[in-house]
Parts: sequence; C-alpha cells; structure tokens
Amino acid sequence: MRYGYFDEANKEYVIDRPDTPAPWANYLGSPEYGAIISNNAGGYSFVKSGANGRILRYIFNSFDQPGRYIYLRDNDSKDYWSASWQPVGKDLDSYKSECHHGTGYTYMNAEYAGIKSSVLYYVPLDKTHEVWKLKVTNDSDKPRNLSVFGYCEFTNDNNYEQDQVNLQYTLFITRTYFMGNRIKQVINENVNKGAAINGSVAFTRFFGLAGAEVASYAGDKEAFLGRYHGYGNPVGVENGDCGNCLNYNGNACGALETKITLAPGESKELAFVLGMKNDAETEAVMNSYADVHAQSEAELAELKEYWHGKLNHFQVKTPSESFNAMINTWNAYQCFMTFIWSRAASFSYCGLRNGYGYRDTVQDIQGVIHLAPEMALDKIRFMLSAQVDNGGGLPLVKFDHNAGHEDTPDDESYVRATGHPAYRADDALWLFPTVYKYIAESGNTDFIDEVILFANGGEGTVYEHLKRAIDFSMNHLGNNRMPAGLHADWNDCLRLGKQGESTFVAMQLYYAMSVLRIFAEQKNDTEYIAYLDKIQKELGDIIQTKCWEDDRYIRGYKEDGMIIGSKHDPEANMWLNPQSWAVISGLATKDQAEKALESVHRELNTPYGVRLMAPSYVDHAFEGALMLLFNPSTKENGGIFSQPQGWIILAESLMGHGNRAFEYFTESSPASMNDKAEIRKLEPYCHGQFTESSDSPFEGRAHVHWLTGTASTVMVGCVEGILGMRPDFDGLRIAPSVPSDWKEFEINKDFRGKKLHIVVKNPNGAESGYKSLVVNGKEMSDNYIAASELADINEIILTM
Ligand code: GLC
Repeated sequence: MRYGYFDEANKEYVIDRPDTPAPWANYLGSPEYGAIISNNAGGYSFVKSGANGRILRYIFNSFDQPGRYIYLRDNDSKDYWSASWQPVGKDLDSYKSECHHGTGYTYMNAEYAGIKSSVLYYVPLDKTHEVWKLKVTNDSDKPRNLSVFGYCEFTNDNNYEQDQVNLQYTLFITRTYFMGNRIKQVINENVNKGAAINGSVAFTRFFGLAGAEVASYAGDKEAFLGRYHGYGNPVGVENGDCGNCLNYNGNACGALETKITLAPGESKELAFVLGMKNDAETEAVMNSYADVHAQSEAELAELKEYWHGKLNHFQVKTPSESFNAMINTWNAYQCFMTFIWSRAASFSYCGLRNGYGYRDTVQDIQGVIHLAPEMALDKIRFMLSAQVDNGGGLPLVKFDHNAGHEDTPDDESYVRATGHPAYRADDALWLFPTVYKYIAESGNTDFIDEVILFANGGEGTVYEHLKRAIDFSMNHLGNNRMPAGLHADWNDCLRLGKQGESTFVAMQLYYAMSVLRIFAEQKNDTEYIAYLDKIQKELGDIIQTKCWEDDRYIRGYKEDGMIIGSKHDPEANMWLNPQSWAVISGLATKDQAEKALESVHRELNTPYGVRLMAPSYVDHAFEGALMLLFNPSTKENGGIFSQPQGWIILAESLMGHGNRAFEYFTESSPASMNDKAEIRKLEPYCHGQFTESSDSPFEGRAHVHWLTGTASTVMVGCVEGILGMRPDFDGLRIAPSVPSDWKEFEINKDFRGKKLHIVVKNPNGAESGYKSLVVNGKEMSDNYIAASELADINEIILTM
C-alpha cells in the first residue's frame, strides 16, 4: 500500500494518505532548539537536551500524541476538525489532507467542509523558537464564521522523566499567565525572586499568537481538554471557547483561540509561536511576526536555501528514481540528521544518553563528507580530542566534553558517569576510514600535522593520534595475537571476553594499517612504514590461518578458544560483517572474496536485505551472545541490521559486482518499499536500525527510525561504491559498479571548490570497468583525474 510519494523537484516527501502505519516523522531545528514532528503533528520539542530540556510533552510507547495541534471550528454548524488529520480524525471520505515533509520544515494541507487550511511547522534557521504558521481559506460560496485554536502541551519539568513520573513534585511547580497575545508558563517561579534551592533555576516558556487577536485562552490542560475528553474532542473546542482558565499546580498547557470571518475565497494567515524565553526575549520574537506572511516566507526560503545548498553539492540523475530520491535528498538529509543529532531525540530515543557514542559518531561523519567537508572537519577534530592518550576512544563522549581534562574508562568516575565499564575494541579504529575520506575529499593534507589534544591530557598531531590508535590495538592483543575483544566490537551484543578476538576488528585494524601507510608515505616516515609492513603482514597471516574456513570468515574467538561463526555450528554459522570487511579491508584474495560474497548471498540474503547472521540464536548461544535476548530474526539476533547493508553494498561494488550491489541497495532501501509501506511500516524515506527477517511473522517490518549509522554506511556504499566516486589525496578515481541496465547516468559533484559534471555512458551494459575517461575534451590514461587537471567547471565523460 502506498501512502505518499517523493517530490524530487521540491525535495519533499508528500503523504497523501494520513493513516500511515506508524508516525512518519521529520526533524525541525537543531539540538539548540529541536523538534520532531509526525505527519499527524505528533511529537515534542526541546531546548539543548531531549531528556533535560524537554518543553513539549510526548508520551513514548503510545500513539504519536500529544502534538502541535491546531483545531478549526465552524461556529455556525459547531462542527470542528484539526489542521492535521489527527487528533480529531475526521472520516477520510470527507477530509482530504497532504503532509509535506521537507528539509527542516513540514507543512500540512487539509480540506474539509469547504475550508482549506495549510499549516507550516518550522524552526527558523539558527533560532531557538518554533513557528506554526496557518493559512485558512474559505473555499465555499458563503461567508464563514470560524474559530482557530492552537494547543501545545507543556511539560511541567525540563526533565522529561520527572515530568512523567514524579507527579507528587512536578504538578506543583508550574503556573501559567495570560499576557494578551500569549500564554506564559513558569516553572519554579519563586527561584527567580528568592533563594535558589539545590541550584534550581526558573524556566519560562511561551505559546503566542501572531497576526490575530486572542478571543479566549487556557493555561490548564484539564480545563481545556475537559474530564473524559481527549485530544480529539477538547471541551474548549467543542464549546467554541477555551474558558480562560489558567493553571496553578496541575498540568499546564498553552491553548489560544481566535475568531475569524472569511468571505467566499478569502484567506487569513496567522502564526502560533512557541519557545523557552524570558519576557523581553519573548516580546522580541513575537514582534518579529508582525507581518506573519512576509516573515514566514522569508524564514522558509532561508531554510530551503541552507539545506538545498548543502544537498546540491552532490546530485545524481540515474535511471532509478528511488536511488535518485535517496541519494539526492533523503539519505543525504538523514546523514545530516544523524550527524547533528547523534542519537539524541526521536520517537525511539528520548535523549537520555548524555553524549556521543564514539564509533557511531565517527561513522556518522562519513555520510556528510562529500556534502559538507568543513562540517565533517569540525567533528573529526572533536572526536580526535575524545581519544585517550593510550590511543583508545572514549566509548561515550559527553556533550560537554572537555578535551584534555576527561577521565577515562580506567577511572571509576568515568564508569559511574557514563555507564560504560571499559574500552571497546573498535572505537578508535573507525577514525581511519573517516579521516582518510575527509582528506581525500577535501585535499586538506595539512590536516595530518594539525595538533589536537587527547581527552585526558597531552596532545599530538593527527598522524600521532592515528599511530596511537594502532598502538592501542597492538597493546591489547588476544590469545591469537589479533586485537582483543575487550568490552565489545561494532556488535554491541557480542561479548567475546576481554581476551577474545573479533575477526571484524582484526580486519578493521588491517585496513587501518593500510590507511596509515599512506599517511606515513606522505610524511616520508620510512621507519614507521617498515614497522607497519611487518605488523600488517603478521596480522594478515594470522587472520588468514585462523579465521578463514572454506567459503567464509568466522566471526571470531571467545576468550576460552571457542570459535564463533564456524560453518559447522548449529546456529549463527554465517556472519555478514567479516565477509564484507574482508573485501573492504583489502585482506581477502580475489578467490576468497568471491566465495565469501557468494556465501552471503546464498545464506543471508532475503527480500528485505541481508541478515546480520543466520540462523538466529535460540538453543545454542554461548554466554556472551547477548542477542539471544531478542526474538529470532530481530536486531542483532539474525535480523536485517541496516547499517551493514552499506558495507555489503560497498564490498560488492569494490569487486565490480554492480548488479549485486544494486540488488542489495534495492532490497534494503526505504524508497523501494514505498508501495509496500504497510509491510515496512517505517517511513519510506528514511533508514531504520533494522528490519525483521524470516523467522518473524512480520518479516519486512522495520524499526527505530532516523537516528542510525545506516544513513552514513549506505551513503558511502552508494557514492563510493555504486557510483564509484573514489577520491584520494591527489585526485579522483571514477569507478562505478552499476546495474548493467543503466545505459547512462549523470553526477553533479562539487570537489575541492570545483564543479564536476560527470556523464557515465554504458553502451554495452557493463557492471563495472571503463573504456575511456575524457576530462574537458582531454583523454586520461585511465579512470583517474589528477586534481591538477581540473578547471573551475569540468565536463567529464566516462565510458564503461
Ligand atoms: C546500535 C549501536 C551501535 C552498534 C550497533 C550494532 O546501532 O548504536 O553502536 O554498533 O547497534 O550493535
């Protein structure tokens, strides 16, 4: 079933059937003032922290309620509805609606009873308040008397959990005021006047109306909704009067009514504005909407210009519409959202994790490098400064990270503060692909020599940081002299024991050595090159003798020597990541790579993507296989984990298997489930953390929307893999691996300040390989363009 479509020209996803199988969400603003909104206006807002700065309430594990509700009422017929289909939920035969999710804004058009409405939700660029701009039009042939109500449900405490559970306290610290054009809510008001208790601070929030007069108001949730009423039928709306009741204790809200009369064809615009600000700041914000129309148009244009400007750095035109929609807009936008928001706020994440996961964040960066290398650079610096001087990464980097002064997993205080008991084997190894990709994209080779602090004191160049990351692994070797398992590797659920060993991490280390060798060559560090060559050869030999088994790599060794992922095991005998990484790391021979990838296809592939491993653990798990806790075919227990889809796409592409790479892209791509959205349930425009696989009665159902490392891995799999954009320090290699029926496609890419228009011709239906590469009329000797060949604007033709 289809609920919407991609509008590529406007970079929007348009939902034309509002009864979607899950809340289909969008992000507004930034973590400074962040908002998440569903296609039915459900969602919450926060200032700085999803968990500790929550200003709009949202009930997790429920339907997507409450939300940013606008009600419309016909004061003659007394019938009422909402500007989003829910919460009133009129019959869809008589109520028409469209929700447009765009880049940093969402708008919803509705038509009911001869009235058209369009509500635009957004947070202006770099601002810390939100706007719900409404346009109402009388589309009937008689004059209409209407009321418009805006409703927001404030939390009673900035901490979302206190707000939900500590009612003997939080119900008694809040009160509201009516201030003419707005409701003001104050929390712990006396703290402003008297002594601060336990360091508490008073908070002031507002919900205002611009462009119209307030006819009635409510600051008390129960008074507005009414006992035994709900969001779908607030008594204030039913009565056509909010009742002018303010809260003193109990639950606060902001509810404002305005009355409007519209002649046939006439329209009116107004805006509800919301935020957490003191009176003077609030006045200033409200005053800036004196001309609602002009101000909101300007702010919307600014948002579009900002986001489209970023996305336009890389645009493709291929024969696959859904590939284009993902790469040009939605996967790219999701990369920015994961990059900016980390795992801070969604309908699955409440914001409780007070920091950046090391591996997650270093990987998230990869997704935006081709679009915004300067943003990537800032975050890379930050993550390097969260590397401990022993070379390991801090498993969790606090949002208020103070480089040079942090405790480490060796300190009890760090463990207590973060809940992370130990180093993880893989964290710092993610730096290698990320730093390499950044330098290759930007050409900023000087970065290697930039000096950056270590988390716990001391400093070193980027080159030194990377050397220490290698040292960290080399100083923590397991029984077979591969990197020790420590707390876990990429797979949070795989506890091999401190001395256990993960094939995946060993391959990451092998890859890291290849990357660092390039840096060492750049620096003419011959002694180090000799060292790297020696340890890499040793490591490679160990992996090949200890981890290769006929047609696959095993997953690793437990501390006690037990093999995980042997083909002879009754369960979990085939694992995805060691196969894809055998190729990505450059370790596997061609023959091994072909065999391993074939085994993946044979044993792990499903219509919805590739399983993380199979069969799921049920009866034969070892202690330490935490995934056993999940139902079979779910998450790490044999589910289709989404993040590794990007790696298998990349691996197949690197082998030149364009058809296979695209097959995996298609199976796991949200967009290709657009017409089967009732099966996938999650938004067809964003990746989720995983999809249930064959053991589940709900095979194909996806979960945990938006904030997932999948955004970046699939982006890299597509851009570097399928489209073959493979920059290195000196230029750009173009090596597409595409479906053989792509006869021609185009890429517009910005590269080091230059414009590249690349046309790839594939007259003979190849999957990979090239015949010729012509740059501005000049034929290159292979498929590589030295940066020095590039003019400001370049016409490039690659013939496959
Ligand atoms: C989640 C975690 C990530 C981990 C993955 C696999 O996505 O955020 O750190 O690598 O699960 O376990």
